[in-house]
Amino acid sequence: MLRGSKVGLRARHQDDIPVLRAELHDDVANHARVQAVPWRPITPDAEAAPFKVDDTEEGHIPFSVVELDGGTLIGAATLWGIDDHNRLAHIGLSLLPSARGKGYGTDVVAVLCHYGFVVRGLRRMSIETLADNAAMLRAAERNGFVREGVLRSSAWVMGEFLDEVLLGLLVHEWKADRP
Ligand SMILES: CC(C)(COP(=O)(O)OP(=O)(O)OC[C@H]1O[C@@H](n2cnc3c(N)ncnc32)[C@H](O)[C@@H]1OP(=O)(O)O)[C@@H](O)C(=O)NCCC(=O)NCCS
Repeated sequence: MLRGSKVGLRARHQDDIPVLRAELHDDVANHARVQAVPWRPITPDAEAAPFKVDDTEEGHIPFSVVELDGGTLIGAATLWGIDDHNRLAHIGLSLLPSARGKGYGTDVVAVLCHYGFVVRGLRRMSIETLADNAAMLRAAERNGFVREGVLRSSAWVMGEFLDEVLLGLLVHEWKADRP
């Protein structure tokens, strides 16, 4: 398990999946804000069912997020789009509603950066988020991410086009920020 100051990132367990599906996938409004594909109901044993893990998929590493204190499941996090040639990857995370606003998201970003930069030897991490996602923007910036641009009207979210913000962090910037 990878450890931050408040959260642990561990492998997805079978009994995490129904909880993540009920609290994240089945929340249509949240799904629309987080995923680039339209929501649809998906049968639990379908090949591409949400939160199901394919351990052979090299470029996409899914984690379950747990509280360090007690091990309660609090969300899902992913290092995705891992590109070993250009040595970059993207961060994605979604916390269960009851776990939001407690500093866990900021800590998840920190742990994913450690995984990307130290364990995987990457050079760049990216985050794309909706321009109105204040908590995600803040969690990224607290970890040293820099706003690199706005993708205007790039996301169709429940009946309207919204802007997205692209943020990036390079390994030397991340190291410079370490105590
Ligand atoms: C976005 C998300 C991961 C952030 O994690 P979190 O644990 O809620 O955020 P944190 O508690 O670490 O807060 C980060 C910062 O944002 C602020 N913040 C938290 N919730 C906020 C809100 N609703 N509005 C404005 N600011 C907020 C916090 O005060 C904190 O700022 P600070 O460091 O200056 O004190 C989480 O809210 C979530 O899973 N949301 C739903 C899914 C989602 O949007 N995922 C991201 C897709 S890119």
